[in-house]
Amino acid sequence: MRKVSMTALILALILAFSQCSFADDVKIGSCIYRFSDAFMLRFRNAMSAETEREGASIFILDSQNDQTIQDQQVDELISSGVNVLIINPVDRMAAQNIIDKAKNANIPVVFINREPPAEILKTYDKAYYVGAKAEESGTEQGELLAAYLKEHPEYDKNNDKKLQFVMLMGENGHQDMILRSEYSVKALKDSGIVPVQIVGAIANWDKLQAMNMMNAFIMSIGSENIEAVIANNDEMALGAVEALKANDYNKGNPEMYIPVVGVDANASALDAMDRGEMLGTVLNDADGQGKAAVKLAAALVSGKDIKSDIKSLGYEITDNRYIWIPYQKVTRGEK
Ligand code: GAL
Ligand code: CA
Repeated sequence: MRKVSMTALILALILAFSQCSFADDVKIGSCIYRFSDAFMLRFRNAMSAETEREGASIFILDSQNDQTIQDQQVDELISSGVNVLIINPVDRMAAQNIIDKAKNANIPVVFINREPPAEILKTYDKAYYVGAKAEESGTEQGELLAAYLKEHPEYDKNNDKKLQFVMLMGENGHQDMILRSEYSVKALKDSGIVPVQIVGAIANWDKLQAMNMMNAFIMSIGSENIEAVIANNDEMALGAVEALKANDYNKGNPEMYIPVVGVDANASALDAMDRGEMLGTVLNDADGQGKAAVKLAAALVSGKDIKSDIKSLGYEITDNRYIWIPYQKVTRGEK
């Protein structure tokens, strides 16, 4: 089954590459850890759009949340003749394998969204990372929640001058899971709030998992004992919102409201914010990151002075291998 689809893939690639003529002959091979991830869909669309603007070509594969599949896909992409890779690793700790493959083929590799450890990235001078600083998103998320709490002292339902909150976390070991969880709480503390985590759970960036967990927490803890929900991303925040709404919370009655914050600024979260169901989010700039990844890939293929090349495009390379795209707080006016 897999053999057949791989052969079909190579044929499709050869066809795709031979049908058009490319400005700089930039042929990008890309793998996304899982196509069903809402934020990564925005990322993919951004990369495709930028590739088109560049007059280059890109072939993007779904690694189906399986590192073994992704490793095979990288082999296939390389043998089909791509001259640069953009990889969203399934397991960022396993990036060495992919680097070794790229190195063997002597083509550059740009990692996105899941940051390989610096020691691994350093093993190849043509390995790069384009992403956003995880701690920044956590800090901004904590700050926007703190700003709301200060305006709304009634958040403290049990009047103990502390914030009892639920933390919904992304995939275990992901830099965004570790650092958003840490820095959101730190920002609350820094602004004078006393946060107390009543429960924390891993919902793998997933709305349904988060909804089920939140339902269980509401049952066991009682919604009246929850004063905020901090989610590592919007999908999980929206899952929590669904569970709250099923319990008549966050439906417009100010007495029945629990602030929920996420990260990403996906359209569905912005809609929920417009309806007053979710407090805020932090823009994870998929357009900026997708664009920068493709620009970097193209610059690497052209082989000129990458640093000044990239600078002229409005990006900066730090430590010889990183492009950082800033996060941005997003809130809506009070309802
Ligand atoms: C994060 C994003 C999540 C999820 C994850 C996948 O940056 O906030 O929603 O897409 O990346 O690696
Ligand atoms: Ca309290």
